[in-house]
Amino acid sequence: MDAHDKISIVDFGGQYAHLIATKVRRLKVLAEILQPEDPVERFAEFKGIILSGSPSLSAYDEDNAYDSRIYDLPVPILGFCFGHQEIAKHYGGRVEHTQREYGPAVLTLRGSSPIFRGLAPEETVWMSHGDSVTALPEGFEEIGVSSSERGPAHRNAAIAHQGLRRYGFQFHPEVDDTLHGEEMLRNFVLDICGCRPDWTMDLFSREEEERIREQAHDRPVFLLASGGVDSTVCAVLLGEALGPERVHLLHIDNGLLRKNESAEVLEAFRRHGFDRNLHFVDASERFLSALAGVVEPERKRRIIGDTFLEVFQEEASRLDLRDCLLAQGTIYPDTIETGGTKRADVIKTHHNRVPAVEALIARGQVIEPLRELYKVEVRELGEALGLPEELVWRHPFPGPGLGIRLLCSDGRAPDRTPGAEEALARLAAQTGVGAAILPVRSVGVKADLRAYEQPVILWGPGLLPHAETLAARLYQEVPGVNRCVVDLSGKGFKAAKPLAGTVTRERLDLLREADAMVMGGLRRHGLYRTVWQCPIVLVPLELDGRGREFVVIRPVLSERAMTARPALLPASLLDELYAAISALPGVSGVALDVTTKPPGTIEWE
Ligand code: XMP
Repeated sequence: MDAHDKISIVDFGGQYAHLIATKVRRLKVLAEILQPEDPVERFAEFKGIILSGSPSLSAYDEDNAYDSRIYDLPVPILGFCFGHQEIAKHYGGRVEHTQREYGPAVLTLRGSSPIFRGLAPEETVWMSHGDSVTALPEGFEEIGVSSSERGPAHRNAAIAHQGLRRYGFQFHPEVDDTLHGEEMLRNFVLDICGCRPDWTMDLFSREEEERIREQAHDRPVFLLASGGVDSTVCAVLLGEALGPERVHLLHIDNGLLRKNESAEVLEAFRRHGFDRNLHFVDASERFLSALAGVVEPERKRRIIGDTFLEVFQEEASRLDLRDCLLAQGTIYPDTIETGGTKRADVIKTHHNRVPAVEALIARGQVIEPLRELYKVEVRELGEALGLPEELVWRHPFPGPGLGIRLLCSDGRAPDRTPGAEEALARLAAQTGVGAAILPVRSVGVKADLRAYEQPVILWGPGLLPHAETLAARLYQEVPGVNRCVVDLSGKGFKAAKPLAGTVTRERLDLLREADAMVMGGLRRHGLYRTVWQCPIVLVPLELDGRGREFVVIRPVLSERAMTARPALLPASLLDELYAAISALPGVSGVALDVTTKPPGTIEWE
């Protein structure tokens, strides 16, 4: 087993490495992310190495900490952007700061390098860099020159040393804007590295089942089953490997789930043969009393996490699972991001890696059958295992559930940011829209840092198609703002008053109703799968003396949740949702969130 050919990707930061890994895996070759400080011996099992780009490092700097002995390895190496420059530098070329280049460019191919086999003489590629290779190392040739509308020709945009099998691209073949990036990667991975494309989901699941049987021996396995895609696919895979009777599933209702969610989850597991060891606890009361009166988002998160662990431990000892292995639906980005925290900014802690679980992992008592898969691959596996579409394509749902979608407040308006009102008034006057700063704060992310700032609300006719562009201006011009929403009434309001609001069953029930309306609407309009995730948020606000909850709909498009764009919804759906939600008791208004991430996160918290 595990005799697949593999490619290693050295992660120099940002999201490049994950994107490259996904693209390589689409070629049916397993790609794994390695860190620059990993010892050179780690690379021995791979048939090729790809050096990623970097958002923060510059090859112009002298010392970039990684073991340069990787260049002595007898396997092909391909570098993109920063990686490309590092290759050039290592072999004696020159890297210099040049004019920044960002966006599409035309790559004119030179010579006939195997890495460009089958491509046209001119290719559209995507550039994003400020340094360039200005002198080639000895033995290297220029195999591509790029030019864009805005600048002079860019030399050494692609370079190669055929004998050493070293290749560098100044551009990013892993992004879709490089139109034939996939062919370039295929040429490298399949032809130059000689990898066999045999890593399929079918094979993966058969091999993983074998591994599960080996690790479990005759012990039963215990899994927390939230009903999300990962834990559900994990449960079914364990069931296939060990038989459902050896799989204990525990579903905890923490009171923060969606409407009817627990009942539906339990029913789905029963349908898959897990009736004997299906355990359920309704712990909603306990969670709600632990959360009573709490306002600060990180505290809410911690309380939910701690209470969860307590309930879980009590249940585990009640069920006497001492001999069980703990199974978790951890997926690949979770393991990478928790391990490689130096470069990835940690905005949240992964509950799959709390100290108690780490200790079990050290003792070999944790089984994580999805640890090598990306989300999209987990879904593919779910389909291969025969799970129904509505389960496999469920939107991601956060562990703390609706708890982070109920904005809490002590009723005091945040301090005014100096200059914010004036800047907003100027922008509103210039663009002819109505605008106000909402007297609440929500979590966002600016320049990789957590930003707890205020949202702006806009209103006016014909606004929606331009809202995202207008929002981009807002973040530039109005200080202290990390979010932008559009009022779906179109009319705006005169006064918004913050109210005190914490986590209560009453608020949660209202949120559940609104959420069910939106999910239903997305399904009816055939948009559930297009939209990646759509949190609904309750904000405790009274508008013009009416209502007590302001409802925000936040549909996003995303790949891996690290960045996101607002998803456009058709006017007919927005009209329906506005009418239905504003008729719910206590609702003061309904808005659509049009914030990108950054500067807003997906959840408001
Ligand atoms: P943000 O709000 O940071 O969210 O843009 C990114 C993605 O992560 C989900 N999320 C969480 N998932 N525990 C989880 O399991 C959490 O504490 C948590 N916080 C956010 C969020 O739903 C989105 O998909």
